[in-house]
Amino acid sequence: SLVPTGELLSRAAAGSGCVAAFNVITLEHAEGIAEGAEAAGRPVILQISENAVRYHGGRLGPLAAAARSVAASSRGDVALHLDHVTEMDLLRQATEHGFSSAMFDAGALPFTENVDATAAAARWAHGEGLWLEAELGYVGGKPGAPASAHAAGVRTDPVEAADYVRRTGVDALAVAVGSSHAMTERSAALDHGLVRRLAEAVPVPLVLHGSSGVPDEELREAVRSGMRKINIGTALNIAFTGAARRVLDGDATLTDPRKYLAPAREAVSATVRDLLAVLAV
Ligand code: G3H
Ligand code: ZN
Repeated sequence: SLVPTGELLSRAAAGSGCVAAFNVITLEHAEGIAEGAEAAGRPVILQISENAVRYHGGRLGPLAAAARSVAASSRGDVALHLDHVTEMDLLRQATEHGFSSAMFDAGALPFTENVDATAAAARWAHGEGLWLEAELGYVGGKPGAPASAHAAGVRTDPVEAADYVRRTGVDALAVAVGSSHAMTERSAALDHGLVRRLAEAVPVPLVLHGSSGVPDEELREAVRSGMRKINIGTALNIAFTGAARRVLDGDATLTDPRKYLAPAREAVSATVRDLLAVLAV
């Protein structure tokens, strides 16, 4: 059933565990994620990014409706989150489409501009009853993202992070601790000491972005060090596209999309189930 993101995060924090948030690009992603979470017996967050909305012609409605319907009919607890929002116009549509939370992404801006933009977004979001995540210390690697914002070695400073949360009033903080978006190899090494210092300094849940590039044991250690929301996108796309490609490569006459979308969805489900087992520290 559909539950609020804030409730899943409160539960995760109370149990010193985490909740995983998986990116939804197609209906089959949403179905596969919910199925994998049910199989694992764990709650899950379906997140739709601003980039995915762009892919769907700039309209949030169709994919949000699909995700909402999948969440509502799931046997497990499923929350809906709007991810990496840079446009206030999109953020303003979150509630009407059933999202209980959003990430406002001003992480590429200099500190003061990030604080001002995010504080305004948080004020607006809280007026709507939306739970708001923001980012400090840019997690690089997104397509089209400014190249200079996250030079190798850039990290979130704990003192600055505490100040940022106090000044913006956000409900969760995405931090730069060594991960990067869209990695297709799991070779990221996280700064666990920094995660622990951030968890101590910051009074709200910490969020790890770019988790696809982080090896299993590093993910588990990150949760033990205080990460409470683990964002995963690329790992599902590797599984989805790999499964579709295997089917298509084997039959040049195939025309029915269900013949490759069904195994793609099944691969997403299996990947989610496995990652949720890893994250159950
Ligand atoms: O917000 C989404 C995540 O940060 C996904 O990152 O595709 O590298 O796993 P990823
Ligand atoms: Zn991200």
